[in-house]
Amino acid sequence: MQASHTFKPEEYFIRDEPYYEPVGEEIEVFLAAYKQQLPILLKGPTGCGKTRFMEHMAWRLQKPFITVSCHDDLTASDLVGRFLVSGGETRWVDGPLARAVRHGAICYLDEIVEARKDTTVVIHPLADDRRVLPMEKVGELLEASSDFCLAISYNPGYQSVLKDLKQSTRQRFVALEFDYPKAELEAAILCRETGIDTTLAQRLVKFAHMTRNLTGSGLEEGASTRLLVHAAKLISAGISPVTACHTCIAQALTDDADMLAAVNELSASLF
Ligand SMILES: Nc1ncnc2c1ncn2[C@@H]1O[C@H](COP(=O)(O)OP(=O)(O)O)[C@@H](O)[C@H]1O
Ligand SMILES: [Mg+2]
Repeated sequence: MQASHTFKPEEYFIRDEPYYEPVGEEIEVFLAAYKQQLPILLKGPTGCGKTRFMEHMAWRLQKPFITVSCHDDLTASDLVGRFLVSGGETRWVDGPLARAVRHGAICYLDEIVEARKDTTVVIHPLADDRRVLPMEKVGELLEASSDFCLAISYNPGYQSVLKDLKQSTRQRFVALEFDYPKAELEAAILCRETGIDTTLAQRLVKFAHMTRNLTGSGLEEGASTRLLVHAAKLISAGISPVTACHTCIAQALTDDADMLAAVNELSASLF
């Protein structure tokens, strides 16, 4: 089968080192799993560094990096590919997963549980020792390049019966658990990412911890590292810490008026 070769792997290389502070042995485990051709599952709340870690690893390994954000309309064809008709000609166009498999890229399926169940099963033969992608529409089994790596992410915090990762899926992966970095490290990340000073960074982290303590009692999740980075960036650009915390953090966490007031009170007590 002649696949459309509009894909240029060189456009998917990450040239500059993405800044990533390791929080445990995740780099070593990832490198070992990659070497042994094992697929990887990143678990953790939103905004705790999963995507940044993947970008860093793709850069380290110097492999093209293809990300797919999963959603409930994502079909198997969106991943595998489809026939397109143009100028009276029908040609096959690889989807992002097929491209990664064919060209030896690292494919990162973000928020895998959002995808439809019938979509998730297409990764099964790729995620065990067969390492093949069935391309039903063209009647081909695409064998993965030895450089290919499959990684998926999943937020166990959103767990519900409908949105859980099936055992048949999860038991194929080496699982790396992510969480918000420890206070000192999180403050260091904020300084490095945004240029704010240590005292301010420590206060933002303290504020984040206060919101994280409210999970379950009114907040679904506390402030992520990502939200702290946003707040720190606004502060760097001259916005007051209270306003930055309100717009970047409180408003992002909740729409509930009482909860907003409570979160704003916390930031007012710190800044
Ligand atoms: N360990 C880390 N090293 C460097 N930056 C980090 C780290 N953890 C979180 N960050 C910062 O937090 C932001 C959000 O992380 P991201 O990788 O987008 O989260 P996720 O993919 O888990 O939702 C990143 O853009 C980065 O600024
Ligand atoms: Mg992400």
